[in-house]
Formats: sequence, structure tokens, C-alpha cells
Amino acid sequence: MVFAQISDLHLTADDTFSNDDGPVAHAVACVAALNRLDPRPELVLITGDVVERANTDSYHRARRILDELQVPYFVVPGNHDDRRLLLEAFPDGACPVRDADREPYIQYTFSHSGFLFIGLDTLKPGSDHGQLCRDRLSWLEAVLHESTTVPRVVFLHHPPVATGHPVVDDTRLYHSAALHRLLQRFPAETHLLCGHVHRSVSTIWAGAALHICPSVFHQFSFDRWLEADLNFVSEPPAFRVYLRIENALLSHVVYV
Ligand SMILES: [Fe+2]
Repeated sequence: MVFAQISDLHLTADDTFSNDDGPVAHAVACVAALNRLDPRPELVLITGDVVERANTDSYHRARRILDELQVPYFVVPGNHDDRRLLLEAFPDGACPVRDADREPYIQYTFSHSGFLFIGLDTLKPGSDHGQLCRDRLSWLEAVLHESTTVPRVVFLHHPPVATGHPVVDDTRLYHSAALHRLLQRFPAETHLLCGHVHRSVSTIWAGAALHICPSVFHQFSFDRWLEADLNFVSEPPAFRVYLRIENALLSHVVYV
């Protein structure tokens, strides 16, 4: 099995950043790179911040760009996203909630190649930090309860861990201890895939592998990471590819 993760596209409707270094050019290049990749990913997970400012035009542009992907893709929201506008722009397939009118959150599951994929919605409207409220955690508990032996890929925008960067950590998933407890109660092979940090970072958390995906738009520098400023660095756009070999799920960072 091969699948890809892209994150933090920050697409705009206007051409504010529409040069070679802008989010639109980077996203188009990223989609082309994914379509050319051999082995080809069987699906693409998009872990939030699809747009920079949530409005209908930005999401329509995102839809046009992402629809060039030659494989199915799945989206969960980031702090820059708007649930309603996201669901309106991607009503079919990319956000497969059971009933968009009744489900207040963009959380869903699907099975692929022996894995259960679980999309989590960590958006707290009006805040940059993430949250999983009681409703969303109860939903996840029921999902985990029904799938205790199946390996899982859980994808969400906000990382539940501190990364050491003061600003990034101020906006991570708050109250993540509840998620930690849930994952430990249902200990199957678990891979947590996050975005938000605009860097590739990996660790182990709650007995799970945890990978943070670089941004399609721009990266933060590791240099002076522990200081309060967010420093951009001219690293290329990048994404992650996950490859199941024997019994291991391996993660590669691929630069565009
Ligand atoms: Fe972002």
C-alpha cells in the first residue's frame, strides 16, 4: 500500500501570492508531482489549512486544483478552514461525513488495504488552537471500540504534542490528554498524521507513531526553533508518502 499526505496549502482566491513562490503555484506543482510519482499513491490525505482565508472563491479554486489529482483524496479542516464552506466545496467524496446536514463535524472513517483511516476534525472556529470536544471524542471512542485489532491511520490538523516552538505550541491541540487516554485504551497499531507545523517532525505519542507533514505552501525554519519568532525558510514545498513494506508503515518526505 502507498498513500500520500499533503498539508497546509493556504490557497487564495485572488492572486495576492500568485507568483512562482505562491500557494497556487506550489499546490499545482504538488498535484503534478503526486500524479507523476512512481509508485503512485493510492489516495491522498489532506490535513487542513486548505485555504488561507475561508471564502467560497478560495475553496472553489482549491477544488479545481485538487480535482486534478488522479486518485481519491480526503480532507479534514485546519484552523484556517470553515466547515460549512469546506463541505459546500467538497460535497462528494473528499469529506465523506454521513450526512452533512446532521453531522456538525467533518469526521469520518474509511477502510483501505487492511487499514482503518480515521479523519478527525480539530477545528475550533475563531481560534488557531485545536480542540476535540466531548462529542468528537465520543465518536472516536465508538470507532476505536469497533476496530480493536485493525491497524489505523488517524489524520488531523493540529498535533497533540508540543514541538518546542512557543507560537506553534500555543496553537496545538488543547486538552490532548483525553485523546492520549483513548488511544491507550484501544492499543492497536496506530499512525497519527498531522499538519499545522509547516515542518516535517516525527515522534512517538500514546504508543502511536506520529508524523507531522511539511507544508505545500512554505516551511518554518528549524534554526532558532525554540525562540518566539516564526522564521520562514526557502525550503521547497513537500509532502509525505507512506509505504507499507512487510509489517512496517514507512514515511518518506518528498520535496516538490
Ligand atoms: Fe498552516
